[in-house]
Amino acid sequence: MAPAFLYGSMINIAVMVSGGGSNLQALIDGVADGRIAGAGIALVISSKDGVFALERARRAGIRTAVISKKEYTCEEEKTDAILAALKEAGADLVVTAGYMSILHKKVCDAYAGRLINIHPALLPKFGGVGYYGLRVHSAVLEAGESETGATVHYVDDEGVDSGEIIMQRSVPVLESDTPETLQKRVLEEVEHILIVEATALVVKDLLHSEESR
Ligand code: GRF
Repeated sequence: MAPAFLYGSMINIAVMVSGGGSNLQALIDGVADGRIAGAGIALVISSKDGVFALERARRAGIRTAVISKKEYTCEEEKTDAILAALKEAGADLVVTAGYMSILHKKVCDAYAGRLINIHPALLPKFGGVGYYGLRVHSAVLEAGESETGATVHYVDDEGVDSGEIIMQRSVPVLESDTPETLQKRVLEEVEHILIVEATALVVKDLLHSEESR
């Protein structure tokens, strides 16, 4: 059953990560300086232990949970643990930011319209199974694109990176770019701004739709 939403007067965000967490840091900063208004980060879930994203969360005083595949006998069990953690934290909105695992349909259904992801390309180009990390940027260079960027989109269970696009930002591809320089520029010049802007927009929409109920 879908959880009852808007546990408080603010939107509780849960961020799901697997690595360095620079997008998580952008969200922490965006909440702290008010660019993301009416929301707080209630929980960070990581698919791996020992990643720097968890350290960033702890430094910001945010509750963390590590829910990794190896602790569970099957996908269903792991999914139930994710849903239980989200419910316990009173999560109204889930942001996957560098989360390297595909979420089960049960999570997509429970958080339909409240589950968003950031992808480091201008979707629908360079998205879907196999497009992650440096592979995305290598493909952009191989295709001879003159610009690339990032996309924040809703997550649904129809496919990978296929949900409705919320917002995009672009950067030019330079002649001198390598997959590594492109990855760094997209992350620092695009993703960290975009994730804050798009999350702020979704939070505003959620607050507005709750107000008008
Ligand atoms: C970002 O490029 C994000 O778009 C992708 O994974 C990367 C995560 O980086 N899904 P970070 O962990 O937020 O630094």
